[in-house]
Amino acid sequence: MIREIYLDNAATSFPKAEGVSDAMKAYLDTVGVNVGRGSYARCMDSGMAVLSVREAVAAAFGCTDARRVIFTAGCTAALNMAINGFVREGDTVLISSMEHNAVIRPLTARGCRLVRIPSDDDGCMRLDRLNADWDAVKLCVCTHASNVSGTIQSIAPLSENLHAHGIPFVLDAAQSAGHLPIDMEALHLAALCIPAHKGLRGPQGLGLLLLSEAFAASLSPTVFGGTGSVSHSDRMPRFLPDRFEPGTLNLPGVYGLGAAMRAYDPIAVRRHETALTERFLAGLQGVPQLRILGPLEPEKRVGVVSVDFASIDNAEASALLDSEYHILTRCGLHCAPEAHKTLGSYPQGAVRFSFSPATTVDEIDAAIRAVREIAAR
Ligand code: ALA
Repeated sequence: MIREIYLDNAATSFPKAEGVSDAMKAYLDTVGVNVGRGSYARCMDSGMAVLSVREAVAAAFGCTDARRVIFTAGCTAALNMAINGFVREGDTVLISSMEHNAVIRPLTARGCRLVRIPSDDDGCMRLDRLNADWDAVKLCVCTHASNVSGTIQSIAPLSENLHAHGIPFVLDAAQSAGHLPIDMEALHLAALCIPAHKGLRGPQGLGLLLLSEAFAASLSPTVFGGTGSVSHSDRMPRFLPDRFEPGTLNLPGVYGLGAAMRAYDPIAVRRHETALTERFLAGLQGVPQLRILGPLEPEKRVGVVSVDFASIDNAEASALLDSEYHILTRCGLHCAPEAHKTLGSYPQGAVRFSFSPATTVDEIDAAIRAVREIAAR
Protein backbone atom coordinates (compact mmCIF):
# COMPACT_ATOMS: atom_id res chain seq x y z
CA MET A 1 0.00 0.00 0.00
CA ILE A 2 1.24 3.49 -0.85
CA ARG A 3 2.03 5.56 2.23
CA GLU A 4 0.75 9.08 1.81
CA ILE A 5 2.31 12.06 3.53
CA TYR A 6 -0.44 14.38 4.66
CA LEU A 7 0.81 17.98 4.72
CA ASP A 8 -2.52 19.79 4.44
CA ASN A 9 -3.24 20.25 8.12
CA ALA A 10 -4.04 23.94 7.68
CA ALA A 11 -7.08 22.87 5.65
CA THR A 12 -8.04 20.27 8.24
CA SER A 13 -5.92 18.28 10.62
CA PHE A 14 -5.40 14.57 10.12
CA PRO A 15 -5.20 12.32 12.00
CA LYS A 16 -7.48 13.60 14.73
CA ALA A 17 -6.50 13.59 18.39
CA GLU A 18 -6.69 10.24 20.13
CA GLY A 19 -10.17 9.42 21.35
CA VAL A 20 -12.06 11.81 19.06
CA SER A 21 -13.72 9.23 16.81
CA ASP A 22 -14.41 6.90 19.77
CA ALA A 23 -16.16 9.72 21.65
CA MET A 24 -18.27 10.62 18.61
CA LYS A 25 -19.24 6.99 18.05
CA ALA A 26 -20.03 6.52 21.73
CA TYR A 27 -22.35 9.54 21.63
CA LEU A 28 -24.15 8.27 18.52
CA ASP A 29 -24.37 4.66 19.70
CA THR A 30 -25.01 5.01 23.42
CA VAL A 31 -26.15 8.55 24.29
CA GLY A 32 -28.06 9.89 21.32
CA VAL A 33 -30.30 12.38 23.12
CA ASN A 34 -30.62 16.13 22.64
CA VAL A 35 -29.58 18.51 25.42
CA GLY A 36 -31.60 21.24 27.08
CA ARG A 37 -34.83 19.76 25.73
CA GLY A 38 -35.86 16.84 27.95
CA SER A 39 -35.90 16.45 31.73
CA TYR A 40 -35.04 12.76 31.88
CA ALA A 41 -31.75 11.68 33.42
CA ARG A 42 -29.94 10.79 30.17
CA CYS A 43 -30.67 14.24 28.81
CA MET A 44 -29.40 15.87 32.01
CA ASP A 45 -26.24 13.74 31.93
CA SER A 46 -25.62 14.69 28.34
CA GLY A 47 -26.14 18.36 29.25
CA MET A 48 -23.47 17.99 31.93
CA ALA A 49 -21.10 16.39 29.41
CA VAL A 50 -21.60 19.33 27.05
CA LEU A 51 -21.01 21.75 29.92
CA SER A 52 -17.76 20.00 30.77
CA VAL A 53 -16.55 20.55 27.17
CA ARG A 54 -17.46 24.25 27.47
CA GLU A 55 -15.48 24.39 30.71
CA ALA A 56 -12.46 22.70 29.17
CA VAL A 57 -12.49 25.18 26.27
CA ALA A 58 -12.93 28.16 28.60
CA ALA A 59 -10.01 27.03 30.78
CA ALA A 60 -7.79 26.41 27.75
CA PHE A 61 -8.31 29.88 26.29
CA GLY A 62 -8.58 32.09 29.36
CA CYS A 63 -12.32 32.69 29.12
CA THR A 64 -13.53 33.33 32.65
CA ASP A 65 -17.09 32.05 32.24
CA ALA A 66 -17.92 28.83 30.36
CA ARG A 67 -21.35 30.26 29.48
CA ARG A 68 -19.52 32.61 27.13
CA VAL A 69 -18.22 29.64 25.09
CA ILE A 70 -20.63 29.36 22.14
CA PHE A 71 -20.69 26.30 19.90
CA THR A 72 -21.02 27.27 16.24
CA ALA A 73 -20.98 25.49 12.89
CA GLY A 74 -17.30 26.39 12.38
CA CYS A 75 -14.79 29.21 12.62
CA THR A 76 -16.36 30.98 9.63
CA ALA A 77 -19.76 30.89 11.35
CA ALA A 78 -18.18 32.23 14.56
CA LEU A 79 -16.59 35.13 12.65
CA ASN A 80 -19.87 35.89 10.88
CA MET A 81 -21.70 35.94 14.21
CA ALA A 82 -19.15 38.28 15.82
CA ILE A 83 -19.17 40.60 12.79
CA ASN A 84 -22.82 40.63 11.76
CA GLY A 85 -24.09 40.90 15.32
CA PHE A 86 -22.03 44.02 15.96
CA VAL A 87 -21.30 46.21 12.91
CA ARG A 88 -23.66 48.20 10.71
CA GLU A 89 -23.32 49.40 7.12
CA GLY A 90 -20.71 52.14 6.82
CA ASP A 91 -18.86 51.25 10.04
CA THR A 92 -15.07 51.47 9.92
CA VAL A 93 -13.37 48.18 10.70
CA LEU A 94 -9.64 47.69 11.18
CA ILE A 95 -8.16 44.51 9.71
CA SER A 96 -4.69 43.22 8.84
CA SER A 97 -3.34 42.93 5.30
CA MET A 98 -3.37 39.13 5.61
CA GLU A 99 -7.04 38.32 6.08
CA HIS A 100 -8.87 35.22 4.88
CA ASN A 101 -12.15 35.54 2.98
CA ALA A 102 -13.92 34.40 6.16
CA VAL A 103 -13.20 37.93 7.42
CA ILE A 104 -13.17 39.93 4.17
CA ARG A 105 -16.47 38.60 2.78
CA PRO A 106 -18.77 39.15 5.78
CA LEU A 107 -17.33 42.64 6.32
CA THR A 108 -17.76 43.49 2.63
CA ALA A 109 -21.28 42.06 2.53
CA ARG A 110 -22.14 44.21 5.53
CA GLY A 111 -20.93 47.34 3.71
CA CYS A 112 -18.14 48.17 6.17
CA ARG A 113 -15.28 50.54 5.40
CA LEU A 114 -12.10 48.49 5.74
CA VAL A 115 -8.87 50.03 7.02
CA ARG A 116 -5.88 47.72 6.62
CA ILE A 117 -2.91 47.67 8.95
CA PRO A 118 0.15 47.70 6.67
CA SER A 119 2.43 44.64 6.57
CA ASP A 120 6.00 44.06 5.53
CA ASP A 121 6.79 41.68 2.65
CA ASP A 122 6.67 38.69 5.00
CA GLY A 123 3.11 39.52 6.04
CA CYS A 124 4.11 40.78 9.52
CA MET A 125 1.86 43.65 10.51
CA ARG A 126 3.51 47.05 10.91
CA LEU A 127 1.41 48.97 13.37
CA ASP A 128 3.95 51.79 13.27
CA ARG A 129 2.99 52.42 9.64
CA LEU A 130 -0.74 52.67 10.36
CA ASN A 131 -2.19 56.11 9.90
CA ALA A 132 -5.73 55.70 11.21
CA ASP A 133 -8.25 57.74 13.07
CA TRP A 134 -8.65 55.33 16.00
CA ASP A 135 -11.74 57.17 17.20
CA ALA A 136 -13.55 56.28 13.97
CA VAL A 137 -12.86 52.53 14.30
CA LYS A 138 -15.87 50.50 15.45
CA LEU A 139 -14.23 47.05 15.49
CA CYS A 140 -10.96 45.29 14.76
CA VAL A 141 -10.93 41.80 13.22
CA CYS A 142 -7.53 40.24 12.69
CA THR A 143 -6.06 36.88 11.85
CA HIS A 144 -3.62 35.55 14.43
CA ALA A 145 -1.58 33.40 12.03
CA SER A 146 -1.75 33.40 8.25
CA ASN A 147 -3.17 30.34 6.52
CA VAL A 148 -0.85 31.11 3.60
CA SER A 149 2.56 31.89 5.09
CA GLY A 150 2.02 30.88 8.71
CA THR A 151 3.10 34.40 9.74
CA ILE A 152 2.19 35.01 13.38
CA GLN A 153 0.99 38.55 13.99
CA SER A 154 2.24 40.56 16.97
CA ILE A 155 -1.21 41.02 18.38
CA ALA A 156 -0.20 42.14 21.88
CA PRO A 157 0.72 45.74 20.87
CA LEU A 158 -2.37 45.93 18.65
CA SER A 159 -4.52 44.69 21.50
CA GLU A 160 -3.09 47.33 23.89
CA ASN A 161 -3.91 50.11 21.41
CA LEU A 162 -7.42 48.81 20.83
CA HIS A 163 -8.01 48.41 24.55
CA ALA A 164 -6.84 51.97 25.20
CA HIS A 165 -9.35 53.24 22.61
CA GLY A 166 -12.19 51.00 23.78
CA ILE A 167 -12.37 49.20 20.40
CA PRO A 168 -13.51 45.54 20.52
CA PHE A 169 -10.96 43.08 19.15
CA VAL A 170 -12.12 39.91 17.36
CA LEU A 171 -9.29 37.42 16.84
CA ASP A 172 -9.46 34.85 14.04
CA ALA A 173 -7.56 31.93 15.54
CA ALA A 174 -8.27 29.56 12.64
CA GLN A 175 -4.58 28.71 12.27
CA SER A 176 -3.30 29.42 15.77
CA ALA A 177 -5.66 27.71 18.22
CA GLY A 178 -4.03 24.48 19.32
CA HIS A 179 -0.72 25.52 17.79
CA LEU A 180 0.04 28.42 20.17
CA PRO A 181 -1.14 29.25 23.67
CA ILE A 182 -3.88 31.96 23.59
CA ASP A 183 -5.24 33.79 26.60
CA MET A 184 -8.37 35.79 25.88
CA GLU A 185 -8.26 37.84 29.06
CA ALA A 186 -4.58 38.74 28.77
CA LEU A 187 -5.16 39.90 25.18
CA HIS A 188 -8.35 41.83 26.10
CA LEU A 189 -10.19 39.98 23.35
CA ALA A 190 -13.85 40.77 22.70
CA ALA A 191 -14.23 37.53 20.74
CA LEU A 192 -12.04 34.58 19.89
CA CYS A 193 -13.05 32.45 16.87
CA ILE A 194 -11.77 28.87 16.67
CA PRO A 195 -12.39 25.84 14.44
CA ALA A 196 -12.63 22.46 16.15
CA HIS A 197 -11.11 20.62 13.18
CA LYS A 198 -7.75 22.31 12.69
CA GLY A 199 -5.21 22.81 15.50
CA LEU A 200 -7.51 21.36 18.14
CA ARG A 201 -7.65 18.13 16.06
CA GLY A 202 -11.37 17.68 16.63
CA PRO A 203 -14.17 17.08 14.11
CA GLN A 204 -15.33 19.25 11.21
CA GLY A 205 -18.63 21.12 11.34
CA LEU A 206 -17.98 22.60 14.77
CA GLY A 207 -16.47 25.91 15.82
CA LEU A 208 -16.20 28.06 18.92
CA LEU A 209 -17.06 31.67 19.58
CA LEU A 210 -15.64 32.80 22.91
CA LEU A 211 -16.97 36.14 24.10
CA SER A 212 -15.92 38.70 26.68
CA GLU A 213 -18.64 39.77 29.07
CA ALA A 214 -18.84 43.28 27.61
CA PHE A 215 -18.91 42.15 23.98
CA ALA A 216 -21.51 39.47 24.70
CA ALA A 217 -23.75 42.17 26.18
CA SER A 218 -23.49 44.33 23.05
CA LEU A 219 -23.67 41.54 20.45
CA SER A 220 -26.99 40.80 18.76
CA PRO A 221 -27.91 37.26 17.72
CA THR A 222 -27.95 36.69 13.97
CA VAL A 223 -29.54 33.24 14.01
CA PHE A 224 -32.88 32.81 15.77
CA GLY A 225 -34.86 29.79 16.90
CA GLY A 226 -35.70 27.41 19.68
CA THR A 227 -33.35 27.09 22.62
CA GLY A 228 -35.31 24.85 24.97
CA SER A 229 -35.56 27.87 27.30
CA VAL A 230 -38.13 30.73 27.77
CA SER A 231 -40.22 28.96 25.15
CA HIS A 232 -43.24 31.22 25.74
CA SER A 233 -41.33 34.20 24.30
CA ASP A 234 -41.00 35.14 20.63
CA ARG A 235 -37.59 36.67 21.42
CA MET A 236 -34.22 35.03 21.97
CA PRO A 237 -33.27 34.65 25.65
CA ARG A 238 -30.84 37.24 26.98
CA PHE A 239 -28.77 34.69 28.87
CA LEU A 240 -25.84 32.70 27.55
CA PRO A 241 -25.12 30.44 25.83
CA ASP A 242 -28.78 30.16 24.73
CA ARG A 243 -28.83 33.64 23.18
CA PHE A 244 -26.40 32.50 20.50
CA GLU A 245 -27.18 28.78 20.26
CA PRO A 246 -30.61 28.24 18.70
CA GLY A 247 -31.40 24.80 17.30
CA THR A 248 -29.83 21.46 18.06
CA LEU A 249 -26.10 21.47 18.66
CA ASN A 250 -23.67 19.31 16.74
CA LEU A 251 -23.53 16.89 19.65
CA PRO A 252 -21.33 14.18 18.06
CA GLY A 253 -18.94 17.05 17.30
CA VAL A 254 -19.06 18.40 20.85
CA TYR A 255 -18.31 14.95 22.29
CA GLY A 256 -15.43 14.59 19.83
CA LEU A 257 -14.11 18.01 20.80
CA GLY A 258 -14.28 16.93 24.43
CA ALA A 259 -11.81 14.15 23.65
CA ALA A 260 -9.64 16.53 21.62
CA MET A 261 -9.47 18.95 24.56
CA ARG A 262 -8.04 16.18 26.74
CA ALA A 263 -5.08 16.10 24.34
CA TYR A 264 -4.77 19.91 24.20
CA ASP A 265 -1.11 20.87 24.77
CA PRO A 266 -0.19 23.94 22.70
CA ILE A 267 3.27 24.27 24.24
CA ALA A 268 4.32 20.76 23.18
CA VAL A 269 2.68 21.21 19.77
CA ARG A 270 4.47 24.51 19.26
CA ARG A 271 7.84 22.96 20.12
CA HIS A 272 7.33 20.07 17.68
CA GLU A 273 5.96 22.18 14.82
CA THR A 274 8.63 24.87 15.19
CA ALA A 275 11.36 22.21 14.93
CA LEU A 276 9.72 20.78 11.78
CA THR A 277 9.30 24.24 10.28
CA GLU A 278 12.93 25.10 10.98
CA ARG A 279 14.06 21.87 9.26
CA PHE A 280 11.78 22.42 6.26
CA LEU A 281 12.84 26.06 5.80
CA ALA A 282 16.51 25.12 6.09
CA GLY A 283 16.06 22.31 3.55
CA LEU A 284 14.50 24.70 1.03
CA GLN A 285 17.06 27.48 1.41
CA GLY A 286 18.87 28.25 -1.79
CA VAL A 287 16.74 26.01 -4.02
CA PRO A 288 16.87 27.74 -7.41
CA GLN A 289 13.54 28.74 -8.99
CA LEU A 290 11.74 28.64 -5.66
CA ARG A 291 10.46 31.44 -3.48
CA ILE A 292 9.50 30.78 0.13
CA LEU A 293 6.67 33.08 1.23
CA GLY A 294 6.80 34.70 4.64
CA PRO A 295 9.46 34.98 7.33
CA LEU A 296 12.47 32.66 7.29
CA GLU A 297 12.65 32.63 11.10
CA PRO A 298 10.64 29.58 12.25
CA GLU A 299 9.61 31.26 15.50
CA LYS A 300 7.70 33.87 13.47
CA ARG A 301 5.40 31.19 11.98
CA VAL A 302 3.08 28.39 12.83
CA GLY A 303 3.79 25.15 10.94
CA VAL A 304 2.65 26.46 7.57
CA VAL A 305 5.06 27.06 4.66
CA SER A 306 4.03 28.07 1.15
CA VAL A 307 6.36 28.14 -1.82
CA ASP A 308 6.05 29.68 -5.26
CA PHE A 309 7.73 27.65 -8.02
CA ALA A 310 9.16 29.76 -10.85
CA SER A 311 9.95 26.89 -13.24
CA ILE A 312 6.58 25.12 -13.10
CA ASP A 313 2.98 26.10 -12.48
CA ASN A 314 2.14 25.79 -8.78
CA ALA A 315 -0.95 23.68 -9.47
CA GLU A 316 1.16 21.31 -11.54
CA ALA A 317 3.78 21.12 -8.79
CA SER A 318 1.09 20.27 -6.24
CA ALA A 319 -0.32 17.60 -8.59
CA LEU A 320 3.16 16.09 -9.06
CA LEU A 321 3.70 16.05 -5.30
CA ASP A 322 0.53 13.98 -5.06
CA SER A 323 0.90 11.68 -8.05
CA GLU A 324 4.66 10.98 -7.91
CA TYR A 325 5.58 11.56 -4.27
CA HIS A 326 2.24 10.93 -2.50
CA ILE A 327 2.60 14.21 -0.63
CA LEU A 328 -0.70 16.00 -0.09
CA THR A 329 -0.59 19.79 -0.21
CA ARG A 330 -2.92 22.66 -1.09
CA CYS A 331 -2.21 25.02 -3.99
CA GLY A 332 -3.90 28.17 -5.28
CA LEU A 333 -4.96 31.25 -3.35
CA HIS A 334 -6.08 29.45 -0.17
CA CYS A 335 -9.24 31.63 0.11
CA ALA A 336 -6.91 34.48 1.05
CA PRO A 337 -6.21 36.60 -2.05
CA GLU A 338 -5.34 39.61 0.11
CA ALA A 339 -2.62 37.64 1.89
CA HIS A 340 -1.18 36.56 -1.47
CA LYS A 341 -1.22 40.19 -2.67
CA THR A 342 0.66 41.24 0.46
CA LEU A 343 3.19 38.41 0.02
CA GLY A 344 3.65 39.13 -3.71
CA SER A 345 2.23 35.78 -4.86
CA TYR A 346 -0.95 37.01 -6.52
CA PRO A 347 -2.40 35.85 -8.89
CA GLN A 348 -0.25 32.74 -9.26
CA GLY A 349 -0.76 31.56 -5.67
CA ALA A 350 1.54 29.00 -4.08
CA VAL A 351 1.89 25.41 -2.90
CA ARG A 352 1.27 25.11 0.82
CA PHE A 353 2.74 22.55 3.22
CA SER A 354 1.21 22.48 6.69
CA PHE A 355 2.21 20.34 9.65
CA SER A 356 0.65 18.79 12.72
CA PRO A 357 1.79 17.01 15.88
CA ALA A 358 1.65 13.78 13.84
CA THR A 359 4.06 15.04 11.15
CA THR A 360 7.47 13.38 11.35
CA VAL A 361 11.00 14.47 10.51
CA ASP A 362 11.14 11.77 7.82
CA GLU A 363 8.06 13.26 6.17
CA ILE A 364 9.62 16.72 6.21
CA ASP A 365 12.80 15.32 4.62
CA ALA A 366 10.76 13.55 1.93
CA ALA A 367 8.95 16.82 1.18
CA ILE A 368 12.27 18.69 0.91
CA ARG A 369 13.62 16.12 -1.55
CA ALA A 370 10.44 16.26 -3.62
CA VAL A 371 10.40 20.07 -3.80
CA ARG A 372 14.05 20.14 -4.82
CA GLU A 373 13.48 17.61 -7.60
CA ILE A 374 10.35 19.35 -8.92
CA ALA A 375 12.01 22.78 -8.89
CA ALA A 376 14.94 21.34 -10.88
CA ARG A 377 12.79 19.91 -13.70
N1 ALA B 1 -9.01 27.95 5.42
C1 ALA B 1 -8.55 26.62 5.23
C2 ALA B 1 -7.28 26.57 4.45
O1 ALA B 1 -6.50 27.46 4.53
C3 ALA B 1 -9.61 25.72 4.68
O2 ALA B 1 -7.04 25.62 3.73
